Amino acid sequence: MNLDRRRLLSLLAGAAALKGAPRPLFAAPEPGLKEHAAARGMVFGTMVLHDQIAEPACREAVLREAGMIVPGNEMKWRPTTPQEGVNAFGPADSIVTFATENGLPLRGHTAVWHQNPPVWAMQRLSGEAGRKLILDHVRTVVGHFRGRVQQWDVVNEAINPRDGKNGLLRDWPPYNEGGYAFLADCYKAAHEADPNAKLYYNEYDLEYDGRDYELRREGVLRLISEMKERGAPLHGLGIQSHLTVGNDFSEGVFRRFLANVASFDLRIMLTEFDVSDRRIQGSAAYRDELVADAARAFLTVAFDQRAVDGLMTWGISDRDTWLTEARPRIDGGVQRALPLDVDYRRKPLWSVIAECFDKAPPRR
Ligand code: XIL
Repeated sequence: MNLDRRRLLSLLAGAAALKGAPRPLFAAPEPGLKEHAAARGMVFGTMVLHDQIAEPACREAVLREAGMIVPGNEMKWRPTTPQEGVNAFGPADSIVTFATENGLPLRGHTAVWHQNPPVWAMQRLSGEAGRKLILDHVRTVVGHFRGRVQQWDVVNEAINPRDGKNGLLRDWPPYNEGGYAFLADCYKAAHEADPNAKLYYNEYDLEYDGRDYELRREGVLRLISEMKERGAPLHGLGIQSHLTVGNDFSEGVFRRFLANVASFDLRIMLTEFDVSDRRIQGSAAYRDELVADAARAFLTVAFDQRAVDGLMTWGISDRDTWLTEARPRIDGGVQRALPLDVDYRRKPLWSVIAECFDKAPPRR
């Protein structure tokens, strides 16, 4: 920039300030959530879908806020293997390209999930052959992205104590028949396919008070200790963190759980954070306030634990939250669950996330 241009810009800035303009045109952009996180040695990221980042407004918002991304569906078994022996990695690859072009680290989600085998595989998951089918899939999908995914949710949602069939594990043939030994094999297969990726176990309903949550936390701790005993390469726990306004949250209970997980020498990520306001009626401002309060209570405790490396939201704007469809409000309206509103403007939830990062003990 030559001197005249610089002087012109500074004059313009002065004029803008005099007029009370909100911000001179060329001022450094306000920091995004990724900067608030990075200042503490932490990470903020978001889930994206390939068609969302094809839209300029969404793409821009993601690049402004997120320091890490995770594909919401594109790496799952059903979309990546529509027919036996046929791989369809195109949509997932487009997200990986987006991440690489923008220097964003990636989470891989998810290799083993009872909800998402392709239709052709669904009746073939029993016995030795079924377990081999799954392990082959783990090798294929993790291998395909080898060197490009920093953290993998290898197994998702394997605990369901209420099923009662299988100890604490979910009632699903591969778990009923293969138990923890099979889960350990999944981690070993993933590690062979990409030795540098950090391997996570990802789970929901770990956040609140009450018997079901308590049992699931117990299940997760048992799974972690089983993996450790079997020498499985498990490096971290993903706590999905789908919150709901109105649920009972006790600081002490959650704090203790995080400390227990950390005592196994595991890293922790909050992987799918959003705050459902489905039970709340009232103005948008009122709902936003309750959503922000619920987030503050939870994130304050979570970020206080130094094993927690960061937070991923399940989408960046309310326009794209899965909750509006999956957990419909009585009034049929959009859930105000994410940091940006439907027009990509920052909401009180955004400010609370920034504030919680700002107050977190520094990681390095
Ligand atoms: C959800 C996606 O957001 C939806 O688009 C899809 O229809 C179903 O899956 N826990 C998980 C995620 O681990 O993979 C789920 O994602 C949300 C709950």
